[in-house]
Amino acid sequence: MNKTRVFVSRHINIFNDASSDFPELEITMPNEGKFLSKGEILKEAKDSDALITLLSDQIDADFIHQLENVKVISNFAVGFNNIDVKAASDKGISVGNTPDTLTHSTAETALTLLLMLSRRASELQMKVKAGDWKRWEPEVDNGYDLREKKVGIVGFGRIGQAFAKMAYQIWDAEILVWERPSAHQIKCDFPFRVVNPTEFKNEVDIISLHCPLNEGTQNFLNSDLIQSMRKNFFFINTARGGCHDETELLKGLMSGKILGVGLDVTNPEPMLKDSPLLQSERVVVLPHIGSATDRTRKEMAYQCLENIRAGLKGETLPFPVN
Ligand code: DGY
Repeated sequence: MNKTRVFVSRHINIFNDASSDFPELEITMPNEGKFLSKGEILKEAKDSDALITLLSDQIDADFIHQLENVKVISNFAVGFNNIDVKAASDKGISVGNTPDTLTHSTAETALTLLLMLSRRASELQMKVKAGDWKRWEPEVDNGYDLREKKVGIVGFGRIGQAFAKMAYQIWDAEILVWERPSAHQIKCDFPFRVVNPTEFKNEVDIISLHCPLNEGTQNFLNSDLIQSMRKNFFFINTARGGCHDETELLKGLMSGKILGVGLDVTNPEPMLKDSPLLQSERVVVLPHIGSATDRTRKEMAYQCLENIRAGLKGETLPFPVN
């Protein structure tokens, strides 16, 4: 059988395991533990018919212009801000992503961050491990009660809706959605209100970002927004680090306006070890694990390969971006 060459930019065992289900594809990848530079990925990509890229690979216009045979780029992520989709479209390259499968795990990550902050889980765990748990205390280790709080969702697509549903079901949260059209049909079986920015700033207790990173959402959580929030609030970001300004987050924490910051995404990534945010007990940072469960990652790998299978046959991708 004449196989078409697919290059995966990182060694990911799941693709080896999945290869028998895609016999027409010759799946190649770097050796385990080898991390390729952009130039090295490009070198491999030049001999390939399709590419599987990670959210940390910058697939910009310059990279795309140099591709010779690639017909499909399938991003191993739902977000695709790392790819210049316009440049790909202009070159006739189909771009795909991995939606749906990671909705639950990413929403769960937002939930984890919020619960860790509200009940001070990370801070109090350190206290126990340091041997500083001396006695049961009625008032010392208290956290923040989430019942009936107003949760502000920015980006009411699949993940935003899944997180809103969790918040509604778990603590009867009132869901306020920042006025921004969603690309996805909303079929929520829980109440929510789409509000204008003023209502949002006046009412919410928690802001959770679930939007894609683009020109409209770059630095969404900035000094203006922080200062115009009426209540002190928690900030959660499982979307992209570029949607918040880390210097302003720190100032907001220091002023007391921000009660706690929960990040699964940072700017830059990885977060620098000496980031001042890490000094605060009111900050919880996870290493971009939104989709990191074995089941989700396996399903993402299959979605990538299904995109490539379809694209190489000249069909519409099952999970298309362009
Ligand atoms: C994605 O896939 O874009 C998300 O960042 C998962 O966390």
